[in-house]
Amino acid sequence: MQIGPHHFSGSYFLAPLAGVSDRPFRLLCREMGAAFSYTEMVSAHGLLHGNPQTDGYLDRDPSETPFAVQIFASEPEVLARAGAEAVRRGADLVDINMACPVKKVCGTGAGAALARDPARVEAAVRAVAAAVKVPVTVKIRAGWDANELNCVEVARAAEQGGAAAVALHGRTRAQGYSGRADWSRLAAVKRAVRIPVLGSGDVFSAADALRMKRETGVDFVLVARGACGNPWIFRELRASEEGRPAPRLTRDEWAATILRHVRMQIEHRRGQRPRELPAEAEDHAVRELRRHLLWYTRGRRGGVAFRREATSVRTLAGVEELVERHFPRGSPAFELDPALANDPAAET
Ligand SMILES: Cc1cc2nc3c(=O)[nH]c(=O)nc-3n(C[C@H](O)[C@H](O)[C@H](O)COP(=O)(O)O)c2cc1C
Repeated sequence: MQIGPHHFSGSYFLAPLAGVSDRPFRLLCREMGAAFSYTEMVSAHGLLHGNPQTDGYLDRDPSETPFAVQIFASEPEVLARAGAEAVRRGADLVDINMACPVKKVCGTGAGAALARDPARVEAAVRAVAAAVKVPVTVKIRAGWDANELNCVEVARAAEQGGAAAVALHGRTRAQGYSGRADWSRLAAVKRAVRIPVLGSGDVFSAADALRMKRETGVDFVLVARGACGNPWIFRELRASEEGRPAPRLTRDEWAATILRHVRMQIEHRRGQRPRELPAEAEDHAVRELRRHLLWYTRGRRGGVAFRREATSVRTLAGVEELVERHFPRGSPAFELDPALANDPAAET
């Protein structure tokens, strides 16, 4: 299991997730068994102009190798310079985002808009590959919309340009994140190229990830929303790869992981803003982490009451108090309630 020179111990990766796959969350997922992860998408222009937010995106734990940075822009030359800058700042792999559906991004010709033109895709990959000595990969969608399903052509263009792998999200840009991902597109791309293919879309459980690999033949599976609030999904997948049963998640381990995540988020913030007062850093980090708190409690009996209060929590001690009060040891609050599985209060 390999992309360029990088060998992986498993085939289940954490997908790039803007606002989510930051240093703390990537580390948690890797510790659970994710074989690889990416930064969230980073503006190539921002990277070149020294945008301070970029430093936060590029922050990583020293154990995180290989380190993959995802960049976006529309101009091959800008992508090439940003790729080189990402490598200078530690990237062992550069991924080009050709999948983002957001208007502001597509309006500049970047993200999913870039993939509308296979010749430009090839030029972009070729330019970045010429500028760096690390593997260059791309992340694409099934196409722009149902009338423009060009992923096979785009994947071939990326391969032609020198891509070391292609990741495919089986939805169109028009679908955004709704509707179903079309896994038949994954199988079609897998048949069309010789480079490794990474599949993405509708992996909400370990069973989904295993089924995607089996049904489509992709080499690697990206877990995205399915990892939000459930980094343990990677432990299940790792156990399955090793042919052993996955350890059951206990209430105490769950609570300890949430609190560790909060602590890591605070440290991450302090690392980025050394001049900020510790209380301010904590306040900011806990607010950043609120959406994770919602996800962690999704589907659990005590979740609805917890979430009502979690929207105003501001400190580590506050999170701890909330967890202990709403999910006391030995109470049924921690249990998953099938009736709450689609609880809209905790949507990604
Ligand atoms: C909140 C959110 C942020 C995302 N950010 C990125 C991103 O920065 N780069 C990228 O390539 N894909 C991004 N994606 C797409 C995911 O990587 C993934 O391809 C998509 O969610 C489909 O997988 P799923 O249906 O299993 O969630 C994002 C998705 C979500 C929900």
